[in-house]
Amino acid sequence: MIPNGTPLAGKLVRLRGVALEDTRDHLELFADDAAALFMDVTPPPQSEAAIDDWTSWLARKIPTGPNRFFQIERLADGEHVGGLRTNDADPAAGVFSYGLQILQKHRGRGYARDAITVCLRFHCMTLRYESAHVYVFENNLASIRLHEQIGFTLEGRQRRSAFYSEEFLDLLRYSIAKESFLKLHGA
Ligand SMILES: CC(C)(COP(=O)(O)OP(=O)(O)OC[C@H]1O[C@@H](n2cnc3c(N)ncnc32)[C@H](O)[C@@H]1OP(=O)(O)O)[C@@H](O)C(=O)NCCC(=O)NCCS
Repeated sequence: MIPNGTPLAGKLVRLRGVALEDTRDHLELFADDAAALFMDVTPPPQSEAAIDDWTSWLARKIPTGPNRFFQIERLADGEHVGGLRTNDADPAAGVFSYGLQILQKHRGRGYARDAITVCLRFHCMTLRYESAHVYVFENNLASIRLHEQIGFTLEGRQRRSAFYSEEFLDLLRYSIAKESFLKLHGA
């Protein structure tokens, strides 16, 4: 098990920092083209060495600033099942966003729901954020259901936000306020 400064654990997973040995799983995450599209990134083909360098850089870097890169690790056995990165975090405004990806072989077991819940609780209770939002493409049904199930509500639609596979896609903005999250999931 990899050392973790703060005990960010839920019922199934915990969030930890990046470790040098995460390269193998990063290669698998990067190879998932469908997931990359859902996250609005179309990375060019990359070498194993480049991904290894990036992983080493993340693992050796002391976290600064409000945005964080977490690995999602299964509590039962320490297996690395995915990653979650916060972005657009603004501590003064009390808002943040994030993106996440679960390795294909580990999907459908509640790991994303648990990881998001841990992340929201940490940001709302420890870091005193007031609200979180995510952007989801309209064809990403798994993510839409996931976020609606957690309690996020649809706030808006950015029409024709991307053109992939010969079709325009709208980008949906979902959000949840701290008070709603605590009412649904407790402190
Ligand atoms: C979206 C994603 C993170 C879900 O991860 P996961 O660990 O499989 O999700 P969970 O097992 O926690 O599912 C929780 C709920 O989400 C919904 N859900 C998850 N996958 C689903 C799917 N394929 N189809 C429909 N609903 C789905 C269900 O409501 C599910 O609850 P249930 O199992 O009680 O029915 C994963 O599919 C993924 O990594 N996708 C690619 C990257 C991505 O789209 N990231 C989000 C960008 S906004």
